[in-house]
Amino acid sequence: MIFESGSEEQSVLLQWAEDEFTGNRLKANPAGPNRYFARYEESDPVPDLFWQVRRRAVSAFSVTDYEDEPRYKCFLGYNTEGGFISEHIDPSPPGKRHVRMNIMLSKPHGGGRPVIDRRMINVQERDLWCFYPTLMRHSSTPVSGNRKRFVLSIGILVPEIGS
Ligand SMILES: [Fe+2]
Repeated sequence: MIFESGSEEQSVLLQWAEDEFTGNRLKANPAGPNRYFARYEESDPVPDLFWQVRRRAVSAFSVTDYEDEPRYKCFLGYNTEGGFISEHIDPSPPGKRHVRMNIMLSKPHGGGRPVIDRRMINVQERDLWCFYPTLMRHSSTPVSGNRKRFVLSIGILVPEIGS
C-alpha cells in the first residue's frame, strides 16, 4: 500500500496538487494540449507526506543503491479533459537505469489510462505502477469527463545490471 491511511493521505496530496494548479505553479507542457506539470526537489515547499510516499515507493521497489533521477525528478502531472501523453521514451544516463514509479492520485471518469509497451494498464486510484521508461515506450489515453488526472511521478536511477 502506497498510502498508509488510504483516502486520507490521498486527500492531503490531492488538496496540495489542486493548490499547486490554482496557484499557477504547474506549467503548461508544450508536448501536448491540456497537460500541466511541475518538478520538485528536496528543497521545495511540498508536504512531508510527499517525501514519505516517495520513500515508500522506493522501498516497494526493493533497491538500496539508487539516486534521484536528475532530469525529470519527482513531478506532478496534471491532465484535463482531452489531455493525453503521446508515446515516448525517456533517457537514462550511461551505466544507469531510469525507473519511474507513478501514483494515480486522481483518476478521471474516462481515459487517462497508462499504456506501456502498447499494453493498456489497469490502474485504480491510489495505485502505484512502475516501469523502465528508457526501455519501454509509454503513453496515456485521452482524459474524458471533468475529473482530472493527477499523477505523482517518482524517478530514480539504479545501476545498469547485466550490461
Ligand atoms: Fe515519460
